[in-house]
Amino acid sequence: MRPHLEPAVTDLLSRLHGEDGAQRARGERTDASLKAVHPTVGELLYRLVIDQGARNILEMGTSHGVSTLYLAAAARHTGGRVVTVDRLAEKTAIADRHLAEAGLGDVVELATAELDEFVAGMPSASERHSAVDFVFVDVGIPAVAPVWSRLEAMLTGDATLLVDGGPPGYWQEPPMADFIESLRQRDWLVSLLPMHKQHLLGIRGVVADPPNTP
Ligand SMILES: C[S@@+](CC[C@H](N)C(=O)[O-])C[C@H]1O[C@@H](n2cnc3c(N)ncnc32)[C@H](O)[C@@H]1O
Repeated sequence: MRPHLEPAVTDLLSRLHGEDGAQRARGERTDASLKAVHPTVGELLYRLVIDQGARNILEMGTSHGVSTLYLAAAARHTGGRVVTVDRLAEKTAIADRHLAEAGLGDVVELATAELDEFVAGMPSASERHSAVDFVFVDVGIPAVAPVWSRLEAMLTGDATLLVDGGPPGYWQEPPMADFIESLRQRDWLVSLLPMHKQHLLGIRGVVADPPNTP
């Protein structure tokens, strides 16, 4: 049976989701705002990492570390680690405190950097001890698309990708539609999850049958 989140993690998460809800209700959306994933997405991240036994997890967009808490709690069970990056040092520092409060600091490496610089500085697949097997994107596709081909070279052949998405129609617009098309052309099975927003789930190495194939 899948383990439940520890009380130290759930207590902190409910506080942070509450703060996020209050900020959204006030219409507060500055760079410094929490902007956390929806709890359902957090739960999905937790389950996916555990069920797939992912051990080498990369997150883009740390903010105050809400999604990182779900990923780190799951990594604790798989024996894995999370690397997470955000461009704002003050947010990385807040996330660091939250992870310490939940007792999960030792499974997370926090980086403060622009995504493109961070990815350019990542060791290539041949230099790494192990390839990345789970990626969570929460910085928007326009930031990720330019670095995706370099990132993709650092992933396992069966990696999982979850992208926090947008309202219906979001994935039909460029550059999001182009991103989906490029994934599909390169052996990714892509599905849009009909949740409160449309989130993208990608699984590498599963070639989808064309429609109408028996
Ligand atoms: C929606 S928030 C992430 C929320 C977080 N995943 C959570 O659930 O708690 C997006 C974050 O991405 C960061 N960000 C946006 N563009 C970035 C870029 N190009 N490089 C690095 N960080 C970026 C922002 O500073 C912001 O904190």
